[in-house]
Amino acid sequence: MAQTKLAINGGQPVRNVPFVRQICINEQYLPSVLDILRSGKWSGYRANKDQYLGGPEIKKLCHEWSEHFGVEYVIPVNSCTSGLMACLSVLEKNLIDVTPYSMSCSASLPYLVSDVVWNDIDEDYFQMDDNDSGADVAVPVSLFGHPLTWKYNADIVIEDSAQCVSKQIYKTDFRVHSLTEGKHITCGEGGVITTDNKELARMVQNVINHEESVAHDFGLTSSGIGLNLRLTEIQASLVRSQLSLLGKNIEIRQQNVSCLNDRLRQIPGIRPAKTYSEGIHSYYCAPFHYTRSDVPRDAFLAAVRAELHNVRLNAGYIKPLYRFPCFSDKQNKLRLPIVERMWKDELFLLLDIAHPHTLEDMEDIANSFEKVADNVRELYWENIYK
Ligand SMILES: Cc1ncc(COP(=O)(O)O)c(C=O)c1O
Repeated sequence: MAQTKLAINGGQPVRNVPFVRQICINEQYLPSVLDILRSGKWSGYRANKDQYLGGPEIKKLCHEWSEHFGVEYVIPVNSCTSGLMACLSVLEKNLIDVTPYSMSCSASLPYLVSDVVWNDIDEDYFQMDDNDSGADVAVPVSLFGHPLTWKYNADIVIEDSAQCVSKQIYKTDFRVHSLTEGKHITCGEGGVITTDNKELARMVQNVINHEESVAHDFGLTSSGIGLNLRLTEIQASLVRSQLSLLGKNIEIRQQNVSCLNDRLRQIPGIRPAKTYSEGIHSYYCAPFHYTRSDVPRDAFLAAVRAELHNVRLNAGYIKPLYRFPCFSDKQNKLRLPIVERMWKDELFLLLDIAHPHTLEDMEDIANSFEKVADNVRELYWENIYK
């Protein structure tokens, strides 16, 4: 190679300053978090009718979440996974539609309790196809922060909304968010279930806290046992502080992604993923399609990573879940074409798009992609092995 420019081959990188994690703390709220710590009342949940819905912070959180998202019932829970489990546990189900492109809980929990139908994904929004399988329950995922763009046919739809905090286009029977680290809003670990159905809400609330003690107070004939999947007052306070900034933080993500989209779409073989309508995406991360034929995606992305210090640039998201060992007894031959293509060859994700990152950081990312594209011949097979 006459003269190397790409950092992966020993040239100067575009940037030496590391990318950082999103900043979630809202300084204004710190005194109220400290007050809760000093009060010693770290959880307001008790096993009786009056206190089974939690303490003052949890109740305020439920009210504010309900106002923000326009939903009737809000049930805080200790993770999205346990929230999905709580919803599934109160339903009649024989057959469940699942997607292979998600965190494993979206498929493994249904798999534990029922027969599942694996559905391929749609290549614009990466959400589960609706295949009229006759399933009682569907568990679609609003992936990467894009809300679901169609209604599913199953009797009950549980939306895994771990990555999405947009307003919904279509209502689902249950929506389950994640508050784990790295999500739009986090309190370390946690989740939020929402529904507009009073009866379903009551049943799930009982699973979250002491069903065995409170169900009969509400005239329910349940003989279940509550799993006590509760969130603390301190966590609720942290979540409230970020909920008040959510609109602003989504805007920052949208502006950053818009800058990336404008720059990266100029590069041959790179295309931003579609958005259903302006302003609807909450961008947990920024998805792109890679369709160049001269260099494989993973080689191109490795060269971009070398230009940027510590950037989170993911190739393919996650291995289709039916390939995981826990499913392979029944599913080892299954290969769904779109999800396989996205995983192996086409999709990539940029994750450093949240506050405190700015348009300048996005320009650095875009410059790196451009530099690699301009010097792509350095990655050609014959040049690497010269
Ligand atoms: C799509 C999806 N579903 C579910 C989860 C699980 O969330 P939690 O860790 O709160 O259980 C995640 C977490 O990353 C996720 O991205």
